[in-house]
Amino acid sequence: MTSGEHCKLGAMESKSRAYETGGERQYYLPILPIHKCKDKLLQTAREHPFFVVTGETGSGKTTQLPQYLYKAGFGKHGIIGVTQPRRVATITVAQRVAEEMDCSLGSTVGYQVRFDDCTSQKTAIMYMTDGCLLRHTLTDPNLTKFSTIVLDEAHERSLSTDILFGLLRKQFLMKCTSKRKYPLKVIVMSATLDTERLSEFFGSCPVCVIPGKVFPIKERFHNLIGPRDKDNSAYVTETVKVTLQTHLNESAGDILVFLTGQSEIEKACDVLYNKAEMIDYRHDVFDSSVDGLLILPLYGSMATDQQKRIFLPPPKGIRKCVVATNIAATSVTIEGIRYVIDSGFVKQLNHNPRAGLDVLEIVPISKSEAVQRAGRAGRTASGKCHRIYSEEFWEKCMPDHMIPEIKRTSLTSVILTLKCLEVNDVIRFPYLDAPEERFILEALRKLYQCSAIDRGGNVTDLGRFIIEFPLSPNLACALIKATSLGCEDLLLPVAAMLSVEHVFIQSGITQKQKEVEESHKTLSEMAGGDNDFATLFSIFEQCKSSDNPVLWCRKHAVHWRAVKSAFSVEKQLRDITNKLKQLKNFPVEKSDIPKNELLQRCLCAGFFSNVARRSVGRTFCTMDGNGSMVHIHPSSALFGQEASLEWILFHNVLVTSKIFVRTVCPIRYEWVKDLLPKLHDVDAYELSSVAREEVTEEELAKWESREQAKRNNEGLEASLK
Ligand code: CDP
Ligand code: MG
Repeated sequence: MTSGEHCKLGAMESKSRAYETGGERQYYLPILPIHKCKDKLLQTAREHPFFVVTGETGSGKTTQLPQYLYKAGFGKHGIIGVTQPRRVATITVAQRVAEEMDCSLGSTVGYQVRFDDCTSQKTAIMYMTDGCLLRHTLTDPNLTKFSTIVLDEAHERSLSTDILFGLLRKQFLMKCTSKRKYPLKVIVMSATLDTERLSEFFGSCPVCVIPGKVFPIKERFHNLIGPRDKDNSAYVTETVKVTLQTHLNESAGDILVFLTGQSEIEKACDVLYNKAEMIDYRHDVFDSSVDGLLILPLYGSMATDQQKRIFLPPPKGIRKCVVATNIAATSVTIEGIRYVIDSGFVKQLNHNPRAGLDVLEIVPISKSEAVQRAGRAGRTASGKCHRIYSEEFWEKCMPDHMIPEIKRTSLTSVILTLKCLEVNDVIRFPYLDAPEERFILEALRKLYQCSAIDRGGNVTDLGRFIIEFPLSPNLACALIKATSLGCEDLLLPVAAMLSVEHVFIQSGITQKQKEVEESHKTLSEMAGGDNDFATLFSIFEQCKSSDNPVLWCRKHAVHWRAVKSAFSVEKQLRDITNKLKQLKNFPVEKSDIPKNELLQRCLCAGFFSNVARRSVGRTFCTMDGNGSMVHIHPSSALFGQEASLEWILFHNVLVTSKIFVRTVCPIRYEWVKDLLPKLHDVDAYELSSVAREEVTEEELAKWESREQAKRNNEGLEASLK
């Protein structure tokens, strides 16, 4: 096989011959630092209800500790539940542990993530996302199904893990054994957390440290990105450049590249692949033992069999190059990495005050994350970390630590969860890091707007219906409305399609930009050409009735995998709506809404806070308190038709230099007229169940601006009458 073939082989195919290892097990079992601590860990587990475990990433915490516990009998009185903040990590780790224990996935070892349950009666070790465990607490607040809960990756400080910290601490303080035969064991695991604080939080519980060895790592700043490049995507090209230089100039050893998301990673892989093909391995490459580059992408929404490949050692003479999102920083460990290329950026969900919504943003990583990334190069031998940014960028743009998610995203869903768990005083809930009070009040306001809670902050019937759905409250509301009207068949496919990632193929690896755009245009025209929600509905239905949906998707530049998961999501959501319809207090409405308006009218019931009215030129002004100016995103069917529109409803927001709204449909003012006043109806402070002694200047100013918005809205209504 020539080196050229190797390159090809490595690039994009899902199955590669190089990995067929006959009957052998397809993984190696390295000696892990945790092995030496097994006895100590088990002893601590026997003696203490709570404890913290910390150790370098890759020391074996996630894969080994649950097995130790299981084999020592901790699973006798219930499941050993292990949480992960990330969906992909949950699945790959469960797969790995099932392999190590020589059982099929879903039997002794299983996993549960949103919309995908791979467990059975037999399951004794259950990996799940932290969001899933939070949902378990709703039906079973004492977690009676579980004997042990391991909160893993605590250093990530994801929103759900943080809430679970508080809930479990409450259980701990209340010594909540009333409804449990055996006390719950709680283990918190982290790579680099301030463990003392955590131990203190859980009543000064013990901390077990797994000693690990890290080889020396040389770090180099490449000065290709400076503070002025903070808001552009120049880092992608530069990262690819440095990766290629590394491949050409460094001795054997695998490369791990950090970028931010799927489409970026696919494009980078494309470029790397093309460049690697042109390399003359006899003359251009410094290390003569290297004769090929195997390029493997790694991101969250990738198919799991593809993800598995990244863990396998590359064929002899081939250098593996994994191009990954932040997932490779701590959640998964790849052996054999000697070079890390750090772009310095990460994709993060942030609450954007300008848009008044949560948006995915690309931001510089923190210094501690950069150190963590670099550490991936020194696991098995000494390594190097190439940082494409400058020291000035490090100093000026990168914060010391990442801000926990609880302090930067919308709290609507978790506050509703807490309220349903009868945690009424959501302000004085024991948070490890309390979110700013205004974020809590904002969440209460949103919940009040969609009638999930009443003025007194109590959960309503509707709130309890909403929490049944693993969806955003807005989407759940729209779906409930449709179910009440008996037209859920219209909304279920839409809700499912909005819940899966990446329905539309972006140009890149196989298709050209123009062709892709044309295909998507045809799709929206098939659905009437002026409603992105209807397009999603039509894709779903056409695929469902197609004899060959795979071909259909390929022809229309749609990801079949996404539509296939939407089918399964739709079924699960349908099960929930069927269950709700059986309830005595579930509302049934009669209406004379014309058929062609039903979809939009139901969407209005859930998304009336995402409504905008056309302002000057192509801009629209949102109707919530912020009154932001937004533009229709070019990917929407309505892009270019702005002049003929007056009112629009949108599903989500993308902030770049402008605020773009995506997945849009036109609506009529009459449909939201009665709902809009609710956006300004109640002062959030009134909703707080906590007595407030004084009002600060800032709060007063906010209150006044809201009053102003309310008056504007009234003015608007008057002008429309
Ligand atoms: O949790 P922690 O970071 O301490 O380590 P781990 O995830 O349990 O990983 C222990 C070892 O298992 C590492 O050497 C990983 O490379 C390996 N592993 C793997 O080969 N495949 C997986 N799907 C997960 C882990
Ligand atoms: Mg781990």
